[in-house]
Amino acid sequence: LASVVLLGCGDASVAAELGKQGHSVRTAPLGAPGTDSVGSPPPDVVIASPNGIPAAGVARRLSLEAPASAVVIILAPAQAGDASIVLDAGATDVAVEPLTAASAAVLVTRAVREARARARIRYMQGREARGAELREVIGQSATMKRLFETLARLARRSSAGPAVRILFTGETGTGKNLLARVFHFNSNRRDEPFVEVNCGALPGTLVEAELFGYERGAFTDARTSHAGLFEAAHGGTLFLDEVTCLGMESQAKLLTALESGRVRRLGSSEDRVVDVQVVAATSLDIPTLVSKGQFRSELYHRLSAFSFGLPPLRDRGDDAVMLAEKFTEEISRSYGLPPKRLGDAAKAAIRSYRWPGNIRELYHAIERAVLGEERDVIEPTDLRLDLATAAKVQAGPNGKIDVDIPEAGLALEDVERAMIEKALRMAQGNVTRAAALLKVSRDTLRYRLEKFGINPATSG
Ligand SMILES: Nc1ncnc2c1ncn2[C@@H]1O[C@H](COP(=O)(O)OP(=O)(O)OP(=O)(O)O)[C@@H](O)[C@H]1O
Ligand SMILES: [Mg+2]
Repeated sequence: LASVVLLGCGDASVAAELGKQGHSVRTAPLGAPGTDSVGSPPPDVVIASPNGIPAAGVARRLSLEAPASAVVIILAPAQAGDASIVLDAGATDVAVEPLTAASAAVLVTRAVREARARARIRYMQGREARGAELREVIGQSATMKRLFETLARLARRSSAGPAVRILFTGETGTGKNLLARVFHFNSNRRDEPFVEVNCGALPGTLVEAELFGYERGAFTDARTSHAGLFEAAHGGTLFLDEVTCLGMESQAKLLTALESGRVRRLGSSEDRVVDVQVVAATSLDIPTLVSKGQFRSELYHRLSAFSFGLPPLRDRGDDAVMLAEKFTEEISRSYGLPPKRLGDAAKAAIRSYRWPGNIRELYHAIERAVLGEERDVIEPTDLRLDLATAAKVQAGPNGKIDVDIPEAGLALEDVERAMIEKALRMAQGNVTRAAALLKVSRDTLRYRLEKFGINPATSG
């Protein structure tokens, strides 16, 4: 049941009928601009008849005066053609005179139902957005800080204007999905849909039906028409996860959609305009796929207007320990356990482990440690890291180097190459700085780069 204000419309029978249905009704004349005709507290529904005043102006004024109320404008038959202008001006709904008791009841029911649907969407969007705030994302290492700054800048800039396109690359578990969400929910499109599609989860033909939609009868199972995810994301963001899983043909269609800003449902001959900000992610190296003829280079360039390479966790310095501390606190709290903490030995183990599964693996290791043991201080063994398969090079307190060699053996050359690559990443590709880290001359490093065929420009 709703509170309704009738402004300059509806005779006594309308108010009486709404009252009989249990709504609370107030009637008032539609005042001149500047006068408060809606009253306070604002009602759920305002129904107003412009009575000769331009209807769009009335719609605009009332929707500004009572932004939380549904605003229904009753047009004179001569104004019926203005309906869409009036809706654009901020009205929630329009109807044409005469306003009868029955039509008023329908308008109120519809307005209340729509307001409830909107509230539900807002609630769900709020829930979806939780955890996608930039401050929830941990990263104090120089690379991550710079990346967050750029991403925040892009998010602020993104608006209804030309849609931004972003590509996230990085090993598994480095935060590609998380950052795609963070970007959307920090962009000006945060109240619009965030639509996520895992291109690897569906076979080729279904991907196209999902992305672009289809008309009834487009294929055997298409019993009804169906809007695609592009259409669903209109105004917001479409996140194409595992984008490299798209076949060449789907890639061509995607490219056309991105270039033209239009999509065509399967089985349709009509294009629909879509305004979508596209974020894509992959853990593969797209240029390699391009050179093998498995990915369209035009699509690669389209998708990667802004490209962010997420470094593996092992190259983020103390971020691993910070993340581990956050997860320890979070997991203890969510299971209602007394707060646990990481012992110094566990921290050291976290620092030196290679984390092939990156942040996801770290999360699961902490979860095992927090749930699996009674004691308050987490020890290295609690993490149950898979040390056997990972070479571990550690500088001891007296400068002595300790290398763990797995049962399967380890090539000395691989250790050397791994160290050089790591130093280059830490130095962001700067050979002089990498040489300093490895305590060799620049020329010595140059010689080894050639020997191993490492390109410093792409290793930073
Ligand atoms: N910087 C970060 N701070 C806090 N949590 C993070 C961070 N990066 C990633 N995570 C968490 O780590 C887990 C893995 O991240 P995510 O799923 O985004 O990785 P991904 O790169 O998409 O991996 P995949 O390639 O396997 O899909 C998620 O639970 C995510 O919330
Ligand atoms: Mg992912």
